Amino acid sequence: MAAPRGIDHIALAVPDLDAATAFWRDIVGLREGAREVLEDQGVEVQMLYAGETRVELLRPLGPDTPVGRFLEKRGPGLHHLALAVEDCAGALRELTAAGAAALQEEPVPGAHGTRIAFLHPRSTGGVLLELVEGSGEPA
Ligand code: CO
Repeated sequence: MAAPRGIDHIALAVPDLDAATAFWRDIVGLREGAREVLEDQGVEVQMLYAGETRVELLRPLGPDTPVGRFLEKRGPGLHHLALAVEDCAGALRELTAAGAAALQEEPVPGAHGTRIAFLHPRSTGGVLLELVEGSGEPA
C-alpha cells in the first residue's frame, strides 16, 4: 500500500472517561480535545493531544460492544494503533489482498467525518490496526 502519512492516533480502552481524561490532562499534561459518541461502534471517544499527536480514549457504551468485551478480557490499556492514509478503501484492498484480515469489507464512518477500517490483530502481529482517511478534526 502507499506509505501512511503518519500515526493518526493511539487509542486506549478505559472504563471511566472522566477519570481517564482527568489523569491524562491534569497529571500527564495532554491537551483535551473533543468528545463524541459513536453509536455504531458502541463507544464514546475523548480526544487528547500530545503536541500534534492524538490519543483517543475509548469508553464502551455497554458490556456487549467490541471495547466492552476488550475491557472484560484484557482490562484497560492500549487498544489500537491508527495510521493516517490517503485512501482508506484502497489501503484496505491492498492489505487484504496481501493476506491481512479486515474487520469490515469497506471503510465505515469514524469520528468527525473520517473514513476508517480495522485489521484484525491476528494478521498484524497482535496489534489492532486502524486505517484513517480524513483529518479527524471537528468541523
Ligand atoms: Co481509533
